[in-house]
Amino acid sequence: MKDLSVKLGSLTLKNPIVAAGGPLAGTVQHIKDCVDAGFGAVVTKTASTVWYLQRYPRPLYKLIDYKKDSTNPYFVPNDYNWMHREHNSVYPPQQFAKIIKEASPYAKEHNCAIIGSFSARFMEEWIEIAKLYEEAGCAALEINFCCPFPPDGLAKSPDDVRVGIYYTKHPEEGVAIIKKLKEFVKIPMFVKMSPDGSNFEQVAKQLEEAGADGVTMFANNKVMRVDIETGKPIDYGPAPGTGPGVKALSLRWVAEVSAKCDFAVMGNRGASTWQDAIEFLMSGASAVQYCTPVMIRGLVYVKELLDGMGKFMDRRGYNSISEFQGVAMRQMYSNQDLVDKVKALYAEVDYSKCSGCKRCSQVCWYDAIKVAKKAIIKKQNCAGCSLCSQVCPVNAISMHERDNDLEHFQAMSSAHPELVPDFYPEGEKK
Ligand SMILES: Cc1cc2nc3c(=O)[nH]c(=O)nc-3n(C[C@H](O)[C@H](O)[C@H](O)COP(=O)(O)O)c2cc1C
Ligand code: SF4
Ligand code: SF4
Repeated sequence: MKDLSVKLGSLTLKNPIVAAGGPLAGTVQHIKDCVDAGFGAVVTKTASTVWYLQRYPRPLYKLIDYKKDSTNPYFVPNDYNWMHREHNSVYPPQQFAKIIKEASPYAKEHNCAIIGSFSARFMEEWIEIAKLYEEAGCAALEINFCCPFPPDGLAKSPDDVRVGIYYTKHPEEGVAIIKKLKEFVKIPMFVKMSPDGSNFEQVAKQLEEAGADGVTMFANNKVMRVDIETGKPIDYGPAPGTGPGVKALSLRWVAEVSAKCDFAVMGNRGASTWQDAIEFLMSGASAVQYCTPVMIRGLVYVKELLDGMGKFMDRRGYNSISEFQGVAMRQMYSNQDLVDKVKALYAEVDYSKCSGCKRCSQVCWYDAIKVAKKAIIKKQNCAGCSLCSQVCPVNAISMHERDNDLEHFQAMSSAHPELVPDFYPEGEKK
């Protein structure tokens, strides 16, 4: 068996695949099932001190763009979208601690870390529950600054909105909570953020300085879809959503925060295949959480994720995850790097391959391509965007480096050179 172990703050996980907070781990039996499935760690269903919002809006779960295959009941498309309206656990955190206490010996025995997730309104509540969860046997805490509830109208008092996402939107209060909790608990604390915040790299740095051991990026935020045949919003209007399509946003912040902070980043939201786990790890993540991809495929999917990662590592000759963790994050270019180090391009056609189909001219937005029998590219107009070479069905277009930046700028402004007169040094104006 391949060594898939990773460091997550001060914890060592046997593998980086983590059950994300949610229905996967809301009961004693489900936590044990997650352990058996092979997860490296299990984040429990979030319990919060506004637990009495148990009047969940319906419908609970909605799969969108989900193409079934009647010949294969186990086929799951990888381009589905998901909306849901599940609140926090119906068990208050003081009760949920009992669930953790009962499940934690089994998890420890099988080397699976239980990460207790909770959210609260007041500092006393945060402290009380953090201590309770530590005593119950959690290996770490996931501080929920992310859940997009309570929804409109259901809150019983104005204080009920001071949970979950409230703290992503008021990061200074979140930072104060982490600082305080550090005085009361010894186990590592990871902060789960909502993608509805901003300046994540700055907020993450502040959380790190306050003593957090890492962040989880991200939970769901509300999305909207429309059935254009009926004109109705799908699933009655905006609801928290996820799906493989949002992976790129999560990856972006995992990479940027990993580059800025020394603490652990757990990737979440949009990872659905084993390849996605590798992408998150290469972007700097220490571990990768999965929720809906496992919910719709069943717990057997965890083994598939682990097998896929192991085979990839064999094929690439990696002996451990640390050999490739963060490799992509460390090779990111700034805009300044791109100007200084990456040459401008121009396109050229291989006439022996060109069929004259005109596909390239449809996508050239710099008026550089004319197609008679074959495509002709006007080099002095070509901005080097490379779109033509990417769509050409017979790969007849290749890209080449330009000698100088001025030529590139002249090509990009060839339609209206008089509008950028100051750019050109004397004598070089068209
Ligand atoms: C039905 C459902 C319930 C969820 N409940 C919680 C929760 O209690 N606590 C939490 O932090 N995140 C919760 N989430 C968010 C997931 O943990 C996860 O962040 C999100 O689904 C994105 O990951 P995915 O793309 O792997 O599904 C829930 C998600 C779903 C779909
Ligand atoms: S897309 Fe390719 S094959 Fe078609 S005209 Fe352009 S260069 Fe020729
Ligand atoms: S690289 Fe871009 S600008 Fe140049 S010819 Fe192709 S599509 Fe046009």
